[in-house]
Amino acid sequence: MDAMEKIVSLCKRRGFIFPSSEIYGGLNGAWDYGPLGVELKRNLKQAWWDDMVAHHDETATPPGAPQPFGMVGLDSALLMNPKVWEASGHVGGFSDPMVDDRETRARYRADQLAVYALEFIGSDGKLERYDEVLFAAPGELGKSTPAELFEPHRKRVASLQKSKPGREARPVAVPGALQDEALRARVLAPGASAPGTLTAPRAFNLMFKTHVGALEDNQSVTYLRPETAQGIFVNFKNVTDTARVRVPFGIGQIGKAFRNEINPRNFTFRSREFEQMEIEFFCRAGEAAQWYQFWRERRFQWYLDLGIRPDKLRIRDHDKDELAHYSVATCDVEYEYPFGWGELEGIACRTDFDLKRHSEASGVRLEYFDPDTKEHYTPFVIEPAGGIDRMALTFLIDAYAEEEVEGETRVVLRLHPRIAPITVGVFPLVKKDGMPELAHGLEEELRELGFTTFYDEKAAIGRRYRRQDEVGTPWCVTIDGETPKDGTVTVRERDSMQQVRVPLREVGAHLREAQRTWRKG
Ligand code: GAP
Repeated sequence: MDAMEKIVSLCKRRGFIFPSSEIYGGLNGAWDYGPLGVELKRNLKQAWWDDMVAHHDETATPPGAPQPFGMVGLDSALLMNPKVWEASGHVGGFSDPMVDDRETRARYRADQLAVYALEFIGSDGKLERYDEVLFAAPGELGKSTPAELFEPHRKRVASLQKSKPGREARPVAVPGALQDEALRARVLAPGASAPGTLTAPRAFNLMFKTHVGALEDNQSVTYLRPETAQGIFVNFKNVTDTARVRVPFGIGQIGKAFRNEINPRNFTFRSREFEQMEIEFFCRAGEAAQWYQFWRERRFQWYLDLGIRPDKLRIRDHDKDELAHYSVATCDVEYEYPFGWGELEGIACRTDFDLKRHSEASGVRLEYFDPDTKEHYTPFVIEPAGGIDRMALTFLIDAYAEEEVEGETRVVLRLHPRIAPITVGVFPLVKKDGMPELAHGLEEELRELGFTTFYDEKAAIGRRYRRQDEVGTPWCVTIDGETPKDGTVTVRERDSMQQVRVPLREVGAHLREAQRTWRKG
């Protein structure tokens, strides 16, 4: 089994993640979170919300920030007026089938790229076809002139023409050439040095369409949101009118997003239904570069603080030609997955593009009034945008370890205690002598203190420890024969497997401290 298969298998076996509607054969790109998966995901969302929004101190200047700033939250509807998606560019921008040239990096609309073979016609009316190489050129057969279609391949066409004296070359359509893999391999793209550099056409409208109300007509069309960001932009005025925020400030949101991905893959990494956690951070245009720098570093550090291994994490800046039309700077926090480096979270400077577009389209001024300078202006936006499902997968991959212990393989998830689905397992060593009662009492006490607990009295103690190791439970507490005598219990730590005796009454405080000082081993 490779590393990815092991994670998928663990997720299925222990109830982290299941294929959606599995009993009916599943649904590609959709996943269900089981009893442990839902806890992991909830903990991740809570950690993000607490660290970014709820526990943010707007009077302090965090390290690297140019000044203190405000943070508020939002939970906007998933269904929105379709005009939102027209103004944001999603309706127009996502709706064409595109092909990319891997060599020249040019991008074409598939329906605007003519693919043709050559025919050579002589004065005798005989036709000779040449289709060893097929040619692609911007244009449309029947509408563009042969000269226009030949233009990007002038030299090749002229040399073939030379080899057929007395015959005239003309382009003939090769239907479906871009869709058919074998034909596509023979297609020479404009400016490419050899055939076979074009990708298969991809329909770019990734939005799921649906209808609101009883009538399924054009008037009732809307979309499942492909990002949570737009819900924030369209509420900019509501928030600034009601929350007494002052630029610079951010609005955070967690919620579902849907994309009809052409090729969902790598388990939950690229799904069709997923959750995002996004911040739209509003600042003055002249300070955007500083805030962009701040958010890059802050978001990168957040993953390290939650235990992601530093050698597996990096920041990659987008090249100019990778930037979305609205962005002047973008970078990805990338993780080295078993299938290669991939985006975990993106941080973009979206300029004032979105607020201006929605102002123009809605007729409502989405501007900020600075009470000090008495100036109205459209703020710039820095957007840290991550996905929870991809995050959960990343933390699982990063935490997974196998090690030899006394001749056996121990599988352990070294999850940070803040995000582990269960914080503490509570076990009676045996099911007698008052041990289960003491264990139940301790479990109840720990639950009241806010720990997520799991009681287990089945199987040998070593096996119970292993089962908790495999799901990432940082501590297990065992009540044994000594407990009634001296009032102490065994606290066993997941990563080191070390055991210490702790007074029963001090278990909560001991775990609190252990949680506070935890570092990935
Ligand atoms: N508002 C900007 C935006 O949506 P994005 O890079 O398209 O940017 C942000 O998405 C994050 O959402 C990604 O970094 C990734 O973590 C997550 N994400 C995007 N598409 C995803 C998919 N198909 N499956 C799982 N997560 C996805």
